[in-house]
Amino acid sequence: MLELPQQLAIGSAHSKLILVGEHAVVYGEPAIALPFPSIHVKSIVQPNEGPVLLESSFYVGPLNSIPEKLKGIATCIKQTCKKLNREPNGFRMHIKSTIPIGRGLGSSAAIATAVVRSLYHFFNEPLSKDDLLELVHMAETYAHGSPSGIDMEAVTSDAPIWFEKDKRSKKVDIKQAFHIVVADTGRIGDTHAAVSSIKEKYKSITDQTKYSIKSLGHLTKEAKRALKDGDLDALGDILNRAQDELVHLGVSDAGIDYLVKVARQAGALGAKLTGGGRGGCIIALAKHAVHAKKLAERFLHAGADQTWHFQIGSDENQYTTTTVSGS
Ligand code: PMV
Repeated sequence: MLELPQQLAIGSAHSKLILVGEHAVVYGEPAIALPFPSIHVKSIVQPNEGPVLLESSFYVGPLNSIPEKLKGIATCIKQTCKKLNREPNGFRMHIKSTIPIGRGLGSSAAIATAVVRSLYHFFNEPLSKDDLLELVHMAETYAHGSPSGIDMEAVTSDAPIWFEKDKRSKKVDIKQAFHIVVADTGRIGDTHAAVSSIKEKYKSITDQTKYSIKSLGHLTKEAKRALKDGDLDALGDILNRAQDELVHLGVSDAGIDYLVKVARQAGALGAKLTGGGRGGCIIALAKHAVHAKKLAERFLHAGADQTWHFQIGSDENQYTTTTVSGS
């Protein structure tokens, strides 16, 4: 017998950052991603007669009239209901997100994760990690074409992860806490287009493109070692070299290059774009907490739309991210 839906069900998910390895990860190279809990998504589901109603900052209205560019969310809701053997009606869903969209911060994966969790909660069904990843993957495929899967693994993890396509992610050892500053160019990137452009390059400028992808894979392995040894100077250097390869691959742009330059001039140990690129955000490795705050101020002064800075530490293998301040 089916159990009656709950009155109010909530599902949530946090944002993510790719430390190193984006784009190369699509070609089977490893990448390292960090949970970024300072910004997150909440999906709240309540009983409501009739067809599904969606309320969000980007669209309010019936699910069936959702605009084309948000069809990934509709697919996610419908596929989740299908998996649960329920009709997609009889509820309203309110999606609240503090993750800016299209900035390489995993907003689409986080929204899909929150949506799936809230629907399972609403229908009182237990949700396995495998089912969650399968449903989020469908929504991500709609949004991104052929995603590697790193975003959905990172937004569902509480710890930094080592990710390789088609494999389960692993925990990354971190010897020494480090401080990351995120700066938003304020411009929406297009991950789908950036991934496709590298695919095209791969066909026409094969050797050079392959070389950059392989180099990013090597840099990710070096980053894993630097994190294990607590060698932040080495980590900073790796981030800088990764940015050089992303420039070669054509996924950086003038706005990103400018913020990377600002970071380096302000003494960051390293800086690079994070996520799909061509807009979106950069990350910078600060020397310590006070330096992170200074870097954030420099970014805002240089025209960044917003910044966040936080510490990733290790305490008996428990990794925590703490927002020191945001703007
Ligand atoms: O969704 P974004 O912009 O954070 O990018 C995800 C990382 C890529 O490597 C660029 C794409 C992928 O599917 O791995």
